[in-house]
Amino acid sequence: MQIITDPSQLQQTCLQWRAQGQRIALVPTMGFFHAGHESLMEHARTVADKVVVTLFVNPTQFGPGEDLEAYPRDHDRDTAVASARGVDVLFMPAPGTMYEADHATWVEVPELARGLCGLTRPTHFRGVCTVVLKLFMLTLPHMAFFGQKDWQQLAIIRRMTRDLNVPVHVEGRPIVREQDGLALSSRNVYLLPDERRQAPAIRAGLCLAADMAARGEKDTATLAEAIRTYWREHLPAGTEDYLAFVHPESLAPVTRMDGQVLCAVAVRLGKARLIDNILMGS
Ligand code: PAF
Repeated sequence: MQIITDPSQLQQTCLQWRAQGQRIALVPTMGFFHAGHESLMEHARTVADKVVVTLFVNPTQFGPGEDLEAYPRDHDRDTAVASARGVDVLFMPAPGTMYEADHATWVEVPELARGLCGLTRPTHFRGVCTVVLKLFMLTLPHMAFFGQKDWQQLAIIRRMTRDLNVPVHVEGRPIVREQDGLALSSRNVYLLPDERRQAPAIRAGLCLAADMAARGEKDTATLAEAIRTYWREHLPAGTEDYLAFVHPESLAPVTRMDGQVLCAVAVRLGKARLIDNILMGS
C-alpha cells in the first residue's frame, strides 16, 4: 500500500490509473477506523481495480466548540488496517495542504442541509460537500462509498453529485453495528461505561417504532412519542438533539406513513453526539 501525503501526487497517481483504464473506488474517511470503515474498504476492493482511502479530519466541517481537536486519531493502526484490507493508496494529506490560506470556494446544498444535523451544525454540510468534491477532483474515482449511518450526508452528496454532473457513482453501504445494536462510530470512544450500556437503546427505540409502523401505525407523531417514551426509560442519560421522520431522498418532514420513510435521530450522551436512522414503511 502506498501512503500519499501530497494532494498533487495523489491526483497524478489517479490520472495515470485512469489513463491505463483502471477503475478507481474512493472511500473518504476521517480515520480511527472501525468495522464500518473496513466494510467500505472491503466492498470497494471487490468492485474496483484501485482502492483509494482518504484519511483527513476536515476542519471545515467542524463548528466552533465542536470536537475537531479531540477527534480520535490513530494513524499507525489505521495504516495497518487499510493495508490489511488491500487498499492501494492511503491518502493522509500533510498539514496545510488541503486548503489554501485564502481558500474561498464552497459547495452547498442548503435545502437538504437545513434540517436534522443542520439544525445544530449549520456549517457542517458546507464543509462536507466542499471537501468531498475536492477529494473527487483529487482521486477522479468511478465510484465512492459512504456509510448509511450519515444518511443526511449521503443524501446531500448524492444531490451535489447529480446537480453538478459529477461522473462518480455514489453508493451508500449498510450501517455496521455492535452486537447490541449500537451503530459503529469513531465517536463511540467518548462514551463512559454507563453511557455505553444505555447507548443501544437509541437503536432499540427506532426498531420499536418500525415494528409499530409495520403493524399499521401511520401517524409519525405517535411513532415519535413511542420512541421518546422508550428512551425516557432506557436512555435516561441521553438528550434528544432531534428525532425526525423524513422522506429518504428529499429529507422533507413526513407526518403520515406513506411509502418509505426515514426516521433519523441524534442523541447527546455524555461527550458523544450519536446519530442513527432506520427506514420504515414500504
Ligand atoms: O463521513 C465522514 O467521515 C466525513 O464526513 C467525510 C465524508 C470523510 C468528509 O470529511
